Parts: sequence; C-alpha cells; structure tokens
Amino acid sequence: MASLRPPSPSARGLEFLGAVAGGLVHEIRNPLSTLRLNLQLMEEDFEGDDGARARRALERIHTLEREVSRLEDILDDFLRYAGFRRLDAAEVDLNRVIEETTTFFAPECARAGVDLAFYPDLRLPLVRLDERLVKQALMNLLLNAVQAMDGRAGSQLFVRTRLEGDRARVDVIDNGPGIPAELRERVWDVYFSSKKAGTGLGLPTARRIAEEHGGTLGFETEVGKGTDFFLVLPLRGPAVAPADAAPAGA
Ligand SMILES: Nc1ncnc2c1ncn2[C@@H]1O[C@H](COP(=O)(O)OP(=O)(O)O)[C@@H](O)[C@H]1O
Ligand SMILES: [Mg+2]
Repeated sequence: MASLRPPSPSARGLEFLGAVAGGLVHEIRNPLSTLRLNLQLMEEDFEGDDGARARRALERIHTLEREVSRLEDILDDFLRYAGFRRLDAAEVDLNRVIEETTTFFAPECARAGVDLAFYPDLRLPLVRLDERLVKQALMNLLLNAVQAMDGRAGSQLFVRTRLEGDRARVDVIDNGPGIPAELRERVWDVYFSSKKAGTGLGLPTARRIAEEHGGTLGFETEVGKGTDFFLVLPLRGPAVAPADAAPAGA
C-alpha cells in the first residue's frame, strides 16, 4: 500500500526556487511594459518629423524597443525553464496535439518561406502527456528549425509521428545547415546559443520536458544536409513522481 509522503526536499526546493524566480520575473516584466509603452508614445511624438534630430531619436527609440523585446523573450524563456511545476498529464491524441501546434506555427513558416508538412502515424494510440508542455517543447524545436534554415530557398520542415513499441516518436526534420561536430554537445547547455539574439534555453527546456515525461530528446544531424530532432515519449506517460510513490525499501 503506497503511503503518502511530503515531497522530497529537493523537489520542494526546486518548486520553491521556481516560485521565487516566477515572482522575480513578474516584478521585472511590469516596469518593462511601462518602458515599452512610453517608448511607443515617444515614437509617436517624433513621427512625421523629418529633421535629422528626430530621425536620430527615432533610431534610438527603435534600438531601445528591440532591447526591451529581447529582455521580455529572456524572461519568458527563463520562466518556462525555471518554472518547475508538476506535470498535468492526461490521455490525448498526440497527432491532434501536433496538428494544432503546426497549424499555429504555419504563419511563421510562411513568413520565412519554409514548406511545412506533417505526416501523422494513424496507428498511434492515445498517449498520456501534459499537452501544454509537449506543445511548448515542439514549438521550441520548430522555431529552431526555421531559424536554422534562415530563409534559404527550398527550406523544408517535416514533422512526423511513429509508433515504436510502447513509445511514440515525433521527428522534427529540417534541411538546414546541420549542427557542426564541435557544437553537438554544447547545444544542450543552458544559455548556449549560436544566435545573436538567442536565449539558449529552447533545447534544455524541451529536453527537460521530455525527461519529465519519462521520454528522451535527441538529434541526428549532417552538416550541409539538415537535422532531425526526435522526441520519444512513453505511451503510458510519466511515472508517478518519486515523492508520491511508496518509499523504496521501506
Ligand atoms: N534545427 C537546428 N539546426 C541547426 N542548429 C540548431 C538546430 N536546433 C538548435 N540548433 C543549435 O542549438 C543552439 C541552442 O538552441 P536553443 O537551446 O533553442 O537556443 P537558441 O535557439 O536561443 O539559440 C542554437 O543556437 C543552434 O546553434
Ligand atoms: Mg531556440
């Protein structure tokens, strides 16, 4: 008979830190939106003025607006990475979840000139997962793929599902530049980014979401040909959190 125990100190510590970080992020976000609002008002003040001083001021305002956006992105990504919360898993149609994610992402692909296609494996049974988190992991992979292809002509993004025994596999395949050998380990590091405005939190977040489900996230890549990120999830979903399970050996 499983006995209920309070969460282990480490799980509680993480939850606590996540909550503190979340509070901090919200405290920073409010003044940032005040900054953004006032920058927009200043922008309106200068609009229609053709003078050299007004043009210079407008350029500076745009720079500040870009920096504010970047800070907001960092806060969002950080909150997702550090915002530790318990999984909210339910049995869902993974193909439907992916269909919704790719549909949501389609305008982004259109803008970047990327051909997007989804090939679902229709044999896939229901999978127990936290839909919001899995969508978030997929979004991170899709976004990385589009950014890697960088508007090149003939850019293609394939998403497909496959039933593999008691697991579901999702591949996100691009025909971008691939990941050079010397970066293949580092891409999983928190804050590692090869992009000018990257946060380096997309892959570590996606991997953690996979692992919290008892699954894995990996990739195969070939320089000059493209990259295949694959998310593998157990059909039966995440194991019961150790803190909630019977104490081992007791
Ligand atoms: N599909 C991909 N093709 C090539 N490189 C990729 C791909 N996905 C991720 N990467 C590499 O992994 C790095 C880390 O990705 P990520 O953690 O999402 O951070 P960010 O996107 O902010 O740089 C990227 O900067 C890029 O160098
Ligand atoms: Mg990313």
